[in-house]
Amino acid sequence: MCGIIGYVGGRKASEILYKGIRTLEYRGYDSVGMAIDTQKGIEVRKDKGSVDEVAAAMQFTSMDGSVGVSHSRWATHGVPCKENAHPHTDCTGKIAIVHNGVIENYQELGEALAKKGHKFSSETDSEIFAHMVEDEKKQGKDTFHAFLASLNKLKGSFAIALLAEGERRIYAARKNSPLVIGLGKGENFAASDMTAMLEHTKDFVPLGEMECAVLEPGGVKFYSLLDGKELKKTPMHVDWSPEMAEKGGYAHFMLKEIYDQKHFVYESLATDVSAANALISKSRDIHITACGTSYHAALMFKYLSSKYLGKTCDAVIASEYPFIASPDKDTLVIAISQSGETADTMKALEFAKEKGAKILALTNVVGSSITRVADEVVYLNSGPEVSVAATKTFTSQLAVVYKLLFPGNDFSEIPKIIADSLQKEVEIKKIAEMIKGKQDVFFIGRGLSVPIAMEGALKLKEISYIHAEAYPGGELKHGPLSLITEGVPVIALAPSDDSVYKMLGNIREVRARGGFVISLNNSSEIEKESNVSIKLSSVDPMLHPFAMVVPLQLLAYYVSVARGINPDRPRNLAKSVTVE
Ligand code: AGP
Repeated sequence: MCGIIGYVGGRKASEILYKGIRTLEYRGYDSVGMAIDTQKGIEVRKDKGSVDEVAAAMQFTSMDGSVGVSHSRWATHGVPCKENAHPHTDCTGKIAIVHNGVIENYQELGEALAKKGHKFSSETDSEIFAHMVEDEKKQGKDTFHAFLASLNKLKGSFAIALLAEGERRIYAARKNSPLVIGLGKGENFAASDMTAMLEHTKDFVPLGEMECAVLEPGGVKFYSLLDGKELKKTPMHVDWSPEMAEKGGYAHFMLKEIYDQKHFVYESLATDVSAANALISKSRDIHITACGTSYHAALMFKYLSSKYLGKTCDAVIASEYPFIASPDKDTLVIAISQSGETADTMKALEFAKEKGAKILALTNVVGSSITRVADEVVYLNSGPEVSVAATKTFTSQLAVVYKLLFPGNDFSEIPKIIADSLQKEVEIKKIAEMIKGKQDVFFIGRGLSVPIAMEGALKLKEISYIHAEAYPGGELKHGPLSLITEGVPVIALAPSDDSVYKMLGNIREVRARGGFVISLNNSSEIEKESNVSIKLSSVDPMLHPFAMVVPLQLLAYYVSVARGINPDRPRNLAKSVTVE
């Protein structure tokens, strides 16, 4: 879950890497480092802290040299501190590496190296890799073959970039962690995702599983890790602009991305889903699997399918999928993943594939890992999403889900519904002030509102650190009602649909216990019973989820800001969760 970038070319590497690693900081932000091959040998500067803090304190850009690597860390082994920050070097300081992933057999490998006299200066699993390459080189191999031999001994997951003193090359490899090669003119790049390279190139080759690349200024060669054979690769061209990954005047990426929704949902609605539709209509069973916010989109698929089409399908949390699902060759597994790199989702798909199931992937990232295991891919077309909290990719996922389930329907109203909800920003800011000091917030809804209530609760807890839970309204009386006391906020999703009168009953239950009801509604009856009311536009009840989710995203955002938190970088989380 760390960010990696490497550069080799004719320009000052430290400046390019600094800009690139800032773009990747959403992937991990507890410590940062950079290694440059300077005239005096490999120089490493690193420390605990944000990219800007460490770059300023360590004067990253004063390092001269045209080849280097940089890393922003999300700790898995060892606390965030200077020693554990990447890059790591071997005993001689002539090899520097950056790593994303988890080396599962690092203890065993480390013990063997220690016996040979290697000294380690960190608690990380990653450092051993620099020493492994050093060791292989001592046995007479060149850097490439030492790199290959060492990679083949690793168990677990890795995206690795390596720099060796005096060689104008970057060695890069991947297994179960993303790494994309960017192809420039007289220069080349390797990074955890394309956004870090968009300023320099739009031509990319995502590394495949168990593949490696050797980057030189004049070209890149690709190899299989298994047999070292050279591979032919066709680059893909991506139309994203660097501005799409910039804040564009908004205080945070999250707010920008919430606003982006009114534009990008058009793109998602325009996505061609005909091949995916054919797969869906051919399948006997449908399982939808995903994590976090994407799981809420999976639940929407399930709810819509059973409510409007009378077709039952299963939505399963990806990390649970191998333990409870029984897919076979007549099962279609629909995997939803913004990043296309989530390890839990990838494992679920590996399991489903082994059982002979067909895979349909819904993702935002072209060439991501999920696209390589899928039989069919639908891209969300939401543009890069940088904030850790998923917002625009969720509405894009919903748009695609609606298109998949109701191919003949006209959904052109959706962008306007989103734009109308965005108008609520000022009143939502006031509501955020009301709940910023609370300890618990409950979200309730019924029917199609349940996955949206869950998404509202996830968003709030994720970025405000306030405990938030969502329940179907009918469940309150089966337990959670005991938690409703004077002033406890309950956000009731009560649009005018077939569940509105039941929701009215739930709101009364809450008020009778002193709860503070903030409702999302389009009826005067609900409004009258609520302490605070957010009015929704009157739309087709099937489309209420689009109208409700935007105010909940804004609420989470403003509560986070009011509590002095950076909503783009919540503690302990990362954008792309590439560990299980
Ligand atoms: C959402 O705000 C979260 N950051 C998280 O739940 C996320 O949706 C989850 O990790 C799944 O990610 P994916 O869509 O990239 O697979």
